[in-house]
Amino acid sequence: MAKDLDWSNLGFGYVKTDYRYVSYYKDGAWDNGQLITDDTITLSECACVFQYAQTCFEGLKAYTTIDGRIVTFRPDLNGERMENSARRLSMPVFPKERFVEGITEVVKANKDFVPPYGSGASLYIRPFMMGTNAVIGVKPATEYQWRVFTTPVGPYFKGGAKPITIRVSDFDRAAPKGTGHVKAGLNYAMSLYAITDAHQQGFDENMYLDAATRTHVEETGGANFIFITKDGTLVTPKSETILPSITRRSLLYVAEHYLNMKVEERPVPFEEVADFAEAGLCGTAAVISPVGKINDHGREICIPSGMDKMGPVLQELYDTLTGIQMGRIDAPEGWIHEIK
Ligand code: PLP
Ligand code: COI
Repeated sequence: MAKDLDWSNLGFGYVKTDYRYVSYYKDGAWDNGQLITDDTITLSECACVFQYAQTCFEGLKAYTTIDGRIVTFRPDLNGERMENSARRLSMPVFPKERFVEGITEVVKANKDFVPPYGSGASLYIRPFMMGTNAVIGVKPATEYQWRVFTTPVGPYFKGGAKPITIRVSDFDRAAPKGTGHVKAGLNYAMSLYAITDAHQQGFDENMYLDAATRTHVEETGGANFIFITKDGTLVTPKSETILPSITRRSLLYVAEHYLNMKVEERPVPFEEVADFAEAGLCGTAAVISPVGKINDHGREICIPSGMDKMGPVLQELYDTLTGIQMGRIDAPEGWIHEIK
């Protein structure tokens, strides 16, 4: 039976659910994995994850569709990205097929926590892995855990679909060469100072520019950018140092094939931002969150679509993407993975 939670008023926080999944890696191989109920982890004080931050993670969601099925959206791509994250952090790869099996088992076991259709909430799925044995010389661990937990969540930004205000960050989103494309704990740890500072100054997020020249738009702390030009083209930054968002890749396809829009994935000079008609953040947690204002060291750039509500083109993209995810609109082959 569905849990008695106030689904429509959930924020983006942690709610403990009944089951999680763990697979252990030892002597060069992953074990078969299992569902467990214990939400705690006990490790050596010298575990590689604590000393050298050898950890990476993923994020995806389970939804209840209009016809009552439970589905996830393109989990194979999260599995693939986690394989890449593991390789870059010298961790053993947890195969993407097993990734999909693992998240399927955990969602199925926690199905009473999947928010109902129409509530605006979803079940956030957090796969993660870490080096667990004691390592004091700087080198990778030899033992690992691959885990998944879930938590029901509402909107990532307070205020739901209201446009947010962001600021150009003076800090870089830490992306040591080659880690821009991975979801690694260290990249996020190094962004915590910047997000705390942004919040203290009254901003919802940071806009990171490219670290080398500080002339081009990269991404925010937890989402990629999408922009709409005055003639209705979807523009999104192309960069080797941002996370390849699955939401963004899906939106490019949706814009082109469902909405007959022109799309451009290319470097975006910061100076061009003031010319766009609409701006938004996209990601699993952010879905599409409209940006109303960008503060560049005191200079305010007001996006023409305004601070009241999402602009019309982003709204159409939002409706189509969420329509596909919730089963109101036919999905491209392979995008929807049903949990049954
Ligand atoms: N960029 C960063 C830094 C993120 O943390 C996320 C969230 O996962 C994204 C972009 C969006 O990626 P996706 O659409 O795959 O969730
Ligand atoms: C996601 O959208 O899944 C993210 O990982 C963003 C943030 C919560 C880290």
